Amino acid sequence: MRRRKRLYRSIRSAKLWVVFAGVLLWLAGCSGQQSALDPAGSGAERIADLFRWMVAGAVIIWILVVGLAIYSIRARSEPHSRNAGKWLIIGGGVVFPIVVLTVLLAYGLAMLPELTSPAPAGSLKIAVTGEQWWWRVRYLPPGGEGVELANEIRLPVGEPVEFQLESADVIHSFWIPSLGGKIDMMPGRVTRLTLKPTRTGVFRGACAEYCGASHARMNFPVVVMERAEFARWLAQQAETAQPPATSLAARGQELFFANGCTACHTIRGTPANGVIGPDLTHVGSRLSIAAGTLPNEPDAFRRWIAHTQAVKPDVNMPNFGMLSPEELQALAIYLDGLE
Ligand code: CUA
Repeated sequence: MRRRKRLYRSIRSAKLWVVFAGVLLWLAGCSGQQSALDPAGSGAERIADLFRWMVAGAVIIWILVVGLAIYSIRARSEPHSRNAGKWLIIGGGVVFPIVVLTVLLAYGLAMLPELTSPAPAGSLKIAVTGEQWWWRVRYLPPGGEGVELANEIRLPVGEPVEFQLESADVIHSFWIPSLGGKIDMMPGRVTRLTLKPTRTGVFRGACAEYCGASHARMNFPVVVMERAEFARWLAQQAETAQPPATSLAARGQELFFANGCTACHTIRGTPANGVIGPDLTHVGSRLSIAAGTLPNEPDAFRRWIAHTQAVKPDVNMPNFGMLSPEELQALAIYLDGLE
């Protein structure tokens, strides 16, 4: 008997450990570059607050309901007054949900103006177009000339930024969980989202609306920087491309022109002025290539160019598998050097 009790106790403590480990794993998902529960922007802070209030409320309601259920099972059946039952149903089943849901709706709606109204005059504006499956990014600094980039967004910390979002093909959705809420990008319509990063760091944005075969490969790094560092970065991005620094890179540039890459890509400062695909003027300075899919390094460029369709199924760019390893290497060195 005693042995059985001990066994029972050890099983129970093992179960507790499993639950504990599970909770730890679950909580580990709450931080990181792409977590709405680890906010780095004022919009995300409000959303995280709303989430915490909703979880706390749900826990309280769950305890109340389970408590009532246990009470109803354990209580001896006594004739209740009909009135008490009626008020329990009207109070708990009608009035209570109406009050709770109305408060939540009001709280949620009150957040919308901050997120979707235009940023104050003089703020930085960035136009982002979702395309299958990458991001065309146009910086529109106040008073300055626009700069077209792709697949990466950098922001100054502590300043509101207005995103003007649209789509070139199907519906996409623009979401930087660490900074704020997501919003759809629709063909033929501009949606707006104002975000205000509150701390520096590297975060991750993603397409949050299924948009075809490579929807999951449509991401982008978001770098929040100090104002001065940001200004230097944007000025550098506005410049034309650096000429190839080595003979291998020069060979890569020749191949870039010889293989028709210029039909789709622009490299400012060269005759390459295609507008179908991402601007590559400073592709070597980005944290990733192929819209957050591969790290920015020569190996990844080679893989991307030779096995494009394997890396990102159905994307518009064809495989350039006919290039020799040496040619691929030259192209990769040229593109990686475009900083
Ligand atoms: Cu674009 Cu999903």
